[in-house]
Amino acid sequence: MAPIRLAIVGLGKIARDQHLGAIAATDGIDLVAVASRNAQLDGVHCFNEIGDLLASGIEIDAVSLCTPPQGRFEQAKAALDAGKHVMLEKPPGATLSEVYALEALAKAKGLTLFSTWHSRAAAAVEPARALLAKRKLKSVSVEWKEDVRHWHPGQAWIWEPGGLGVFDPGINALSIVTRIMPEKFHLTRSDLTFPANRAAPIAASLAFETDSGVPVSAEFDWRQTGPQTWDITVETDEGKIVLTHGGSRLIVDGEAQIVEEDREYRNLYRDFVALVAAKSSDTDFSPLVHVADAFMLGRRIQTEAFED
Ligand SMILES: NC(=O)c1ccc[n+]([C@@H]2O[C@H](COP(=O)([O-])OP(=O)(O)OC[C@H]3O[C@@H](n4cnc5c(N)ncnc54)[C@H](OP(=O)(O)O)[C@@H]3O)[C@@H](O)[C@H]2O)c1
Repeated sequence: MAPIRLAIVGLGKIARDQHLGAIAATDGIDLVAVASRNAQLDGVHCFNEIGDLLASGIEIDAVSLCTPPQGRFEQAKAALDAGKHVMLEKPPGATLSEVYALEALAKAKGLTLFSTWHSRAAAAVEPARALLAKRKLKSVSVEWKEDVRHWHPGQAWIWEPGGLGVFDPGINALSIVTRIMPEKFHLTRSDLTFPANRAAPIAASLAFETDSGVPVSAEFDWRQTGPQTWDITVETDEGKIVLTHGGSRLIVDGEAQIVEEDREYRNLYRDFVALVAAKSSDTDFSPLVHVADAFMLGRRIQTEAFED
């Protein structure tokens, strides 16, 4: 198969931090164009908007959307309507109905839609899933605490409706938990802490229960300075399984099992190439369903105003 001719839309932080390097390191996919209002890249065709790119006649097979979730639907729909395969950054969209509409459109057109979850591509996730399939779970607790000023400096969209606030990182934890758990779970309590001047929460305290009644708790907080915490702890009948560093390290019964370099985005592009070749899609929206539930069931707690 000829390499996929790819365009990136939204040449911002994550596109530069991860996508460009991962694409360059992946066989079967070449970056040929970029559409971004305020950024250009040497050596590829550059456009301001996806509409200009699609109208240009430049030959592309796929687009990778690296813009914020608000507005992503129109970009993805335009790409699918133009017959292009689509890879979505996480979260896949700003609402559930729009992502299900994209799923249906891709299916109707026979195109690949890949709703990526980069944290699921971390090294410890599949080994943890295999281990948990063999053990009886007693409880799960998630602690995802980071410094918003460090990771999202000046990103206004993240505090706007659809930007998800602390669920922007929190959904990464949910993408791992939904992958490794041997059974489904649902939300039972949600306390959301909103800065007085912001439309999105800065912290969330959540409780879930699995189908068989195993408790799952999650604490997301954007106010943590100093060491950052991205941990998932699973108590089982045979001991403790802990994923740390965002799913890249695995500790089983106190012993480190996996410590690996970050390959998340290279894994995502490898998977995208395989999905396109197989003419299939990967559209598991369950992490976004849990976030939507958290907003639906959320008790609003107000805290002091947040300034960047
Ligand atoms: N930052 C991270 O560490 C990280 C990690 C993993 C995943 N992600 C996900 O990747 C996505 C983008 O995050 P990011 O951190 O890269 O954001 P960003 O840098 O703020 O935005 C990416 C680019 O999108 C374009 N853009 C921004 N606001 C826009 C708007 N309202 N309409 C159209 N285009 C807009 C901008 O390019 P132009 O102005 O040039 O058009 C911007 O450079 C998010 O869904 C995020 O959750 C981010």
